[in-house]
Amino acid sequence: MNTEEIKSLTQKYIINSYGTRSLTLCRGEGVNVWDTDGKQYLDFVAGIAVNQLGHCHPKLIQAVEKQLHTLIHVSNLYYIEPQARLAQMLCELSFADKAFFCNSGAEANEGAIKLARKYAHTHYGDNKFEVITLLNSFHGRTYAAVTATGQEKYQKGFEPLVPGFHYAELNNLDSVKALISERTCAVMVEPIQGESGVHPCTPEFLQGLRDLCNQNKALLIYDEVQCGLGRTGKMFAYEHYGIIPDIMSLAKGIAGGLPMGAVLTTDEVATAFTPGSHASTFGGNPVCSAAACATIQTLLEDNLLENTIQMGNYLVKSLKKLQEKYSLITEIRGMGLIIGAQLDRPGTDIMTMCMEEGLLINCAAQTTLRFVPALIVTQEDIDKAMEILDKVLSQVS
Ligand SMILES: Cc1ncc(COP(=O)(O)O)c(C=O)c1O
Repeated sequence: MNTEEIKSLTQKYIINSYGTRSLTLCRGEGVNVWDTDGKQYLDFVAGIAVNQLGHCHPKLIQAVEKQLHTLIHVSNLYYIEPQARLAQMLCELSFADKAFFCNSGAEANEGAIKLARKYAHTHYGDNKFEVITLLNSFHGRTYAAVTATGQEKYQKGFEPLVPGFHYAELNNLDSVKALISERTCAVMVEPIQGESGVHPCTPEFLQGLRDLCNQNKALLIYDEVQCGLGRTGKMFAYEHYGIIPDIMSLAKGIAGGLPMGAVLTTDEVATAFTPGSHASTFGGNPVCSAAACATIQTLLEDNLLENTIQMGNYLVKSLKKLQEKYSLITEIRGMGLIIGAQLDRPGTDIMTMCMEEGLLINCAAQTTLRFVPALIVTQEDIDKAMEILDKVLSQVS
């Protein structure tokens, strides 16, 4: 099928909820992808922080292939070895004692919110169901997740939303204090907001949330869908802060590009879910679980967390050099390899021009260029990306 045929089938048969797409990508290797015309691109989008090991990593292929030949799918009515191994790995690497598996970030947050409500309902009765999230957050598109997302543009037209959600301001503890009460069952935040344009929580804010949750018998939920799984240079972003949540949601990078989400929690909170409380047909599917085990194992074996810290520092340094040269970059934010360059204008044209020059980046919240390359990225890749960005910025400045 040629490029035009793919485009025309997509336009004819797929609901247009993604807008006009620019490229038809058909192959990937490491940090590079190719379009159907054979043009190569350096991929600093990585499926929006998904392809932690880059494209088609041999260890991921090997694990998935092996599982494909062994067992592709069985129901959660049965024990599944790769799922059990993955749960053990995630719990041993984190604060958690128990995991629930699903298929996406929105579903992981849906599960996290349901778990928090069920826990409060079980222990404190009917009136403790409110959830506090943050303005400009992003938690996904299912009803509870989009209600949790503190951005009207994603909610408009879908009302009535799920009741009981309130929105505070990032890094403004007073705004949380004004909303929290004995009715609050959970406070849910991204330790580093991704979609809002890469905005980290301050340590004081997270500590303040932890204290407020404890005082109000509410659970603290971290949405680490985007910032988790090595992205910040630690396995989980909360490790940079040393402030432990009660529940954490994961997805995106967890299985290196296969669909998977997870809810992690403590033994105590996990008891709120009893047989029948929550379920997912594909959650913890053997192939996705094997992919996740291989992804996490490779992150550890190949020292990719260390690489993430070093390459993140190098990318920030390189971007700061460009900032000195071009005043349209006003701030560089982020941690590890989740980095945002704040612009004084919309970034769509810059993003498109970079693409034409062979670099894929994307634009969060319209004015932030977001860099979330695979965690295998090298200094040479970053140099090449910065060369392209430099050229593009010189044309728009
Ligand atoms: C922090 C965060 N939570 C949840 C989601 C939703 O994930 P998914 O698209 O897999 O449902 C995203 C997606 O961008 C995200 O960045």
